Amino acid sequence: MEGKLRAFDENWKRTVYCGRVEGRSGEEVSVVLNGWVRKRRDLGGLIFIELWDHTGIVQAVFNPELTPEVHERAGALRSEFVIALKGKIMARPEGTVNPSMKTGRWEVAAEDFILLSPAAPLPFELAGGTDKVDEHLRLHYRYLDLRRDRMQRNLRIRHKLAMFTRNYLSDRGFLEIETPALTLSTPEGARDFLVPSRVNPGAFYALPQSPQIFKQILMISGFDRYFQVVKCFRDEDLRADRQPEFTQVDIEMSYLTEEDIFSLMEGYMKGLFKEVMDVDIATPFPRMAYWEAMDRFGSDKPDLRIPFEIADLSSVFSRSGFEPFKTILASGGFVRGLPLPGGAALSRKNLADVEDKAKAMGARGLSPFQLKDGVLKGPLVKYLDEAGQAALIEKSRLSDGDALFVTAGADRREVSEILGDLRLELARERGLIESDRWEFLWVVQFPLFERDEEAGRWQAVHHPFTSPMNEDIPLMDSDPGKVRSRAYDCVLNGNEVGGGSIRIHDPAVQEKVFANLAFTREDARARFGFLLDALASGTPPHGGIALGMDRIAMLLCGASSIREVMAFPKTQKGQCLMSGAPAPVSPDQLEELRISVIPGEK
Ligand code: AMO
Repeated sequence: MEGKLRAFDENWKRTVYCGRVEGRSGEEVSVVLNGWVRKRRDLGGLIFIELWDHTGIVQAVFNPELTPEVHERAGALRSEFVIALKGKIMARPEGTVNPSMKTGRWEVAAEDFILLSPAAPLPFELAGGTDKVDEHLRLHYRYLDLRRDRMQRNLRIRHKLAMFTRNYLSDRGFLEIETPALTLSTPEGARDFLVPSRVNPGAFYALPQSPQIFKQILMISGFDRYFQVVKCFRDEDLRADRQPEFTQVDIEMSYLTEEDIFSLMEGYMKGLFKEVMDVDIATPFPRMAYWEAMDRFGSDKPDLRIPFEIADLSSVFSRSGFEPFKTILASGGFVRGLPLPGGAALSRKNLADVEDKAKAMGARGLSPFQLKDGVLKGPLVKYLDEAGQAALIEKSRLSDGDALFVTAGADRREVSEILGDLRLELARERGLIESDRWEFLWVVQFPLFERDEEAGRWQAVHHPFTSPMNEDIPLMDSDPGKVRSRAYDCVLNGNEVGGGSIRIHDPAVQEKVFANLAFTREDARARFGFLLDALASGTPPHGGIALGMDRIAMLLCGASSIREVMAFPKTQKGQCLMSGAPAPVSPDQLEELRISVIPGEK
């Protein structure tokens, strides 16, 4: 094919997109099409091709009797060759109409075409779904993978999301301001990606984990309402909903309370879901304190579409005859249960499988109950009297036909998290998630600090700039673990789609928080001195939120991973399989940066 490519000129520019071809009855319409040959079929002397562009597919037909030379050339067309084609739109003959195709009533009788670019044989089929193709192969050939309808659709939805976001916020007086990508570390709980500075040997920039400090400073600088659609970088373990670089819709405002963020975001989500999905979502979103979410759902991002929740059975078992649970309760522990609708039908083997799952999640044991025809069964039933059994049924809201899985432990969060993980897994496995619902939730009143037992110190649950609740400030010295913060997470169907807080705007409180986080005064000054100085130079009360744009796009697209809504994502190991990043660099480059690499495992 080399050397036979024709130059592209005005004559060959498309007059219509492939997916928008439509004839007019009784009228001959000539068109020029540009696109990729998705398929070629030779049938009874005719050659049919499906020509694709991002709008869809149209069928073109080459007839050897009408255009013998063109027909002959068309015989060399292969999948994904790029061509420009001229022809006339014809109604398809009776019986060959394809109602599943947008252009299925029409075909283009080809009169001429030019080849613009041939294509190497494909590593995988581009028509149809993406599910069966190995994801690594897809990522390696991302340029081809993105030519699939599903990826085209996903990135279009993402674009709509970005446009809606900018318009919504701009209409409400928010200014998009860019903040640096080469900066100092902003702690958000992950490791930093570092960038060496050539002109300052031995010194490094950090890529921002978020623009947190800069957006606060913009409030101090008087901008009042800021937003940015911004890349953030976190060197953390990757999962389906995490990438090392991802996009936030980052927002900050001055002179606000939590209510301003809640109503701003509820209006945003309502408008977004209407525009992109034509779905009406209910506002305001319910709110739930962190500990209520943990106790009832074993998660700080509960999926409210799952119709069963954890029950506190401590009072039931403290009056039972079952000593192991009584001992745990007597020393301040917890006994909790997870009901499973329809679980009475589970076999002994099924029950044992559930227990194994719970053990893999960290449970010491899991005791099953089953309520069948009004009779409660299970190894621990004998330890409960009639009133105890009735209380168990009532507290866990068991209906006839259900099962209940009970576990106990010393740690409130741990016991619930095990049942929370089990709740998710059983609901998924048994198809108990009502998938066409959109359940938003604000989770509020997070603890300000959590204990890092290994390091023997407190760390910030969100980030160190989050304000404590006013009434809990006195606890900062006496009982840091009890201090609640003014942080909030926005949860959608079990996904944390956003998080933010009202910030500390008093430098004294900020210094106190740094002290609780075991920063010495000098450390705090060295890392955040500029923020402390800025806070001391006239700071309005301020706060904000950052939305995970990739996660929202994933949910809008019905995708199972954020990789499906990013054009060029990285693998679990942080690699871009298409470009080969990250890669070693030349000794010269290292030398220039005054860096030497310690050899080790690849
Ligand atoms: P946070 O760390 O909660 O808050 O991040 C905000 C939102 O960003 C998304 N997100 C991610 N998405 C993909 N991959 C990741 N690795 C990843 N990490 C986070 C989540 C999350 O809710 N500066 C604060 C915001 C603030 O306080 O205003 C912050 O970054 O959806």
